[in-house]
Amino acid sequence: MQKEYKRYLVTSALPYANGPIHIGHLAGVYVPADIYVRYLRLRGREVCFVGGSDEHGVPITIKARQLGVSPQDIVDTYHHQIKESFSRLGISFDVYSRTTSEIHHKTASAFFRKLYDEGKFLEKETEQYFDPEANTFLADRYITGTCPRCGHADAYGDQCEKCGSTLSPDELIDPKSSISGSIPEKRKTKHWYLPLDQYEPWLREWILENHKEWKPNVYGQCKSWLDNGLQPRAVSRDLDWGVPVPVEGASGKVLYVWFDAPIGYISNTIELYPDTWEKWWKDQDTKMIHFIGKDNIVFHCIVFPSMLKAHGGYILPENVPANEFLNLEGEKISTSRNWAVWLHEYLDEFPGKEDVLRYTLCSTTPETKDNDFTWKDFQSRNNNELVAILGNFVNRAVVLTHKYFKGTVPETGTLTPYDREVLGSVSAMKNALEEHLEHYRFRDSLKEAMNIARLGNKYLADTEPWKVAKTDMERVGTILNISLQLCARLTIALEPFLPFTTKKLRDILNITKAFPWSGLDNETLLQTDHQLNEPVLLFDKIDDDAIVLQTDKLKKPVVKKVVPASPECTIDDFEKMDIRVATVLHAERVPKTDKLLKLTIDTGLDRRVIVSGIAGYYTPEEMTGKQICILANLSPRTIRGIESQGMILMAKEPDGSMRVVSPEDKIGNGAVIG
Ligand code: MF3
Ligand code: ZN
Repeated sequence: MQKEYKRYLVTSALPYANGPIHIGHLAGVYVPADIYVRYLRLRGREVCFVGGSDEHGVPITIKARQLGVSPQDIVDTYHHQIKESFSRLGISFDVYSRTTSEIHHKTASAFFRKLYDEGKFLEKETEQYFDPEANTFLADRYITGTCPRCGHADAYGDQCEKCGSTLSPDELIDPKSSISGSIPEKRKTKHWYLPLDQYEPWLREWILENHKEWKPNVYGQCKSWLDNGLQPRAVSRDLDWGVPVPVEGASGKVLYVWFDAPIGYISNTIELYPDTWEKWWKDQDTKMIHFIGKDNIVFHCIVFPSMLKAHGGYILPENVPANEFLNLEGEKISTSRNWAVWLHEYLDEFPGKEDVLRYTLCSTTPETKDNDFTWKDFQSRNNNELVAILGNFVNRAVVLTHKYFKGTVPETGTLTPYDREVLGSVSAMKNALEEHLEHYRFRDSLKEAMNIARLGNKYLADTEPWKVAKTDMERVGTILNISLQLCARLTIALEPFLPFTTKKLRDILNITKAFPWSGLDNETLLQTDHQLNEPVLLFDKIDDDAIVLQTDKLKKPVVKKVVPASPECTIDDFEKMDIRVATVLHAERVPKTDKLLKLTIDTGLDRRVIVSGIAGYYTPEEMTGKQICILANLSPRTIRGIESQGMILMAKEPDGSMRVVSPEDKIGNGAVIG
């Protein structure tokens, strides 16, 4: 017997706020989760869909350091960008908050403190690498050295990116701190551990015995973790970014990001429902489902449930329908190589085509194994399915109704057995659709919903109302009435998948109030004489050019290393600088140096001499006659006995090489830049 639940708490992994969302995130987590909650809402179920940004963790601090800004700056930027792009794609969170919020810090802190007070943690002192110059313990990622497996010189303390091995900092040969470059030393430090080994028997029973229905990939991963034996896991870190460990004498320590982040699901629910949040988290009649990618399985099936169990009073997830990974054009998605399709860019480049992406991603959801997104496939799903099947059916039904019945729903005459069969088969589809959706089979469910449009096309092709119109208008009326009823049922069946399209379709059909799910069983959603609106196309073709543009864009290399941004300056600071266009009249090497050229230049104001360190990159001949930009009011300096009156603006490439900045078109000497 399946348990009947009163309400559904649906969570989706909190993405790290250190980069934008790409199609891998969407296909694996957010599109399936959104389809599921939209379906539940249509069925009139009580739902809370929780999302939010995961704003702690070492990678965010590394990115901030690289860019010369604070971690808070990083998460502020990406939290807002991510939140906005989700909403533009119609991901219908009930709450999308963040783990830097006050309420989250309070909630996570109290959670830890309760476990601490009840003696649920082990306290252990270990030796960890410490950077004496930067005066800080070093996260594994902050230590680099030679890989013991492959000899790669820049392996990280947790992983070698060359050979892919998982490492521990102790294994690195010649470890170095990547913060200061100094050689780290071992120092003692205390941390708190969740003794997962103690929860093992309970986890075995809960998952391996009672949740055999979980997806094979999820169940299999859990089983292999459990069979390998669980170890106590540290839940604190020496780091200055995160939720401070709420214990005396723990300054400089924060909660491990994987301890605080899942508590974010709770905090965000509290933020949304300060008074009634407990019914979502503490009532056995709530069904909790975690939508995640496969790299998150251990945290959601083993660590977080153990935390909830240790705390007590909380419900556990009923299912964790984790997906595998989505590849892009046959290769792993890589944010550092820019091998990705970024959601915010897609939304800008394909306005009005939100549903095309939702459709393609749902069709290629990596449900059982890794799957591949290709732009060709995207194009053909749009042109051959959305345009040719769905758009075409709706358009024919509506256009013909306008042509023969002034756009009003015609009356039905006597129904033929075929008519009845068509109407009846939608009810069978409804059952299949429910069955798939209840079991997280989103690809199959989308296919099933599209089958209503396929059925409609076949019905029109078989009955040929445009021919019948010459002899039997009553029959034409019946055919179109049935076709329009199918269109109306499509507004329900497709709503979870294509919410922008169903809205458009309701507008065409002049349906002011969306139908509930049960409408799928109703053969007369549209009454006779109901007036339709003018037809508009639901989809249009995507041509080859648009696709080539995208595949070309993928191939563009990215410059990896960027120089940290300088501290903020004001416009006044900037305006102090007199930057101008000038022309080099004459150039010569400065004797007995490799690097210096002596340039005589025309600044429009005067002629002057500048000594510049560009001899390694330009010959005197190359420089002569060239237009350049100079900082004209730099106080004069004497270099090798020559007074240099200003400075040339140069661009430094990531590899250290220098290029002078020259105007593209000839500009008058003395022109001011600013
Ligand atoms: N930020 C994690 C990731 O992107 C997911 C965190 S899920 C949560 O892999 F439960 F911890 F919030
Ligand atoms: Zn290696």
